[in-house]
Amino acid sequence: MGENSAAWIDSPYADLTIREAPMPEAGPGQLLLEVRAVAVNPLDAIIQSNGTVMYGWLDYPVILGEDVAGVVVATGAGVGGFAVGDRVIAYAMGLEKGRDAVSESGFQRYVAVDAGLAAALPDSVAFEGGVVLPLALSTAAAGLFEEGQLGLDYSRLGDPAPRDELVVVWGGATAVGSNAIQLARAAGYRVITTASPKNHDRMRRLGAEAVFDYRDPDAAARIVEAIGGSKVAGILAVAVGSAEPCRRIARATGATRIAMASPPVSFYEQPRSRDLSLARIRLFLTLGMRTALLQVRSRVRGITPSFIWGSAIATSPVGPAVWGEYLPTALASGDHQLYPQPRIVGEGLPAIQGAIDTLRDGVSAQKLVINLPTVTTES
Ligand SMILES: NC(=O)c1ccc[n+]([C@@H]2O[C@H](COP(=O)([O-])OP(=O)(O)OC[C@H]3O[C@@H](n4cnc5c(N)ncnc54)[C@H](OP(=O)(O)O)[C@@H]3O)[C@@H](O)[C@H]2O)c1
Repeated sequence: MGENSAAWIDSPYADLTIREAPMPEAGPGQLLLEVRAVAVNPLDAIIQSNGTVMYGWLDYPVILGEDVAGVVVATGAGVGGFAVGDRVIAYAMGLEKGRDAVSESGFQRYVAVDAGLAAALPDSVAFEGGVVLPLALSTAAAGLFEEGQLGLDYSRLGDPAPRDELVVVWGGATAVGSNAIQLARAAGYRVITTASPKNHDRMRRLGAEAVFDYRDPDAAARIVEAIGGSKVAGILAVAVGSAEPCRRIARATGATRIAMASPPVSFYEQPRSRDLSLARIRLFLTLGMRTALLQVRSRVRGITPSFIWGSAIATSPVGPAVWGEYLPTALASGDHQLYPQPRIVGEGLPAIQGAIDTLRDGVSAQKLVINLPTVTTES
């Protein structure tokens, strides 16, 4: 095993800096991975742009990164089903409250991950293909299946009896949305979604029966029309600003639950600065106002909107059902598609900062991925 190094964020708002890092250890129930590919998520950009305003429990310096693919180099006590040498993908949980934002975060050469949030990659799937999934899949699973979210039935995930119930996924071309479409279908639900027209065929290939352009001001009304008299089991709102049209769909169709992956304002277009700028004050006022309005307007109609934490599945039965039972089989059979497509934007830890900056400019149906050469190759 080589030395460890990481892309550190030394203080709030700072650029990532590459330097050595302590070698993590696989704790009980954990795997130690040599990381071979990472992907960047909006969360990485959001934390870097907002300092201690978001994830205030982080004690800097820390390491960002949730999506990793790599090779198992050690297993912790009590781990079954994995062995040294396995190729896996995993959700690195370091940034979550109560976790270690050094040893358990993804942007480093070696990382400790929970075996319960890891899955073996079939030989046919490259690290950079598989690494698009972890956080997005986990967030989609939390939104669809957690009891406090849509609470959908996942008891026969991957082998369901078809149901005549619909799930609306607003934002199907997002990483979260595309995994939600597939998970909802794998649980037997029909799916209606939204995306830019250029992505409509992709959405159908993932299993959506109808797709609407979210930029169409009448999109919500068209979705209601397409639903007709069918029962709506729940609505998943992904992408900034998606909750309001979803509320209108719920109101018109009698759906009672909306699970939201995104806040009503964008946190990652913020300039990276400590100052309490006018823009930041305005952002928080808008956030407060829109959140309050959404809650009041929904609850008077018997609709419950809830905000998703993807990490919730780490401690609930949803995690083992999705990561342990469904995903390995669905990856091996090709039934769960690797989506969004990986776009390799560089190699090595220094490429990660550029990838986060590129993500801030926006992506369409792509996941920004960085390959990490093996430790022996690099040295
Ligand atoms: N709560 C959590 O635990 C959690 C975890 C992960 C992510 N998130 C949040 O979930 C959201 C999606 O993250 P991601 O990584 O999945 O995103 P992403 O893949 O980077 O999203 C890019 C896609 O967003 C779509 N999009 C943009 N604006 C939209 C709108 N108004 N309505 C519908 N789709 C829109 C675009 O679709 P087209 O290309 O078709 O235009 C684009 O392909 C972000 O807000 C992120 O912060 C939350």
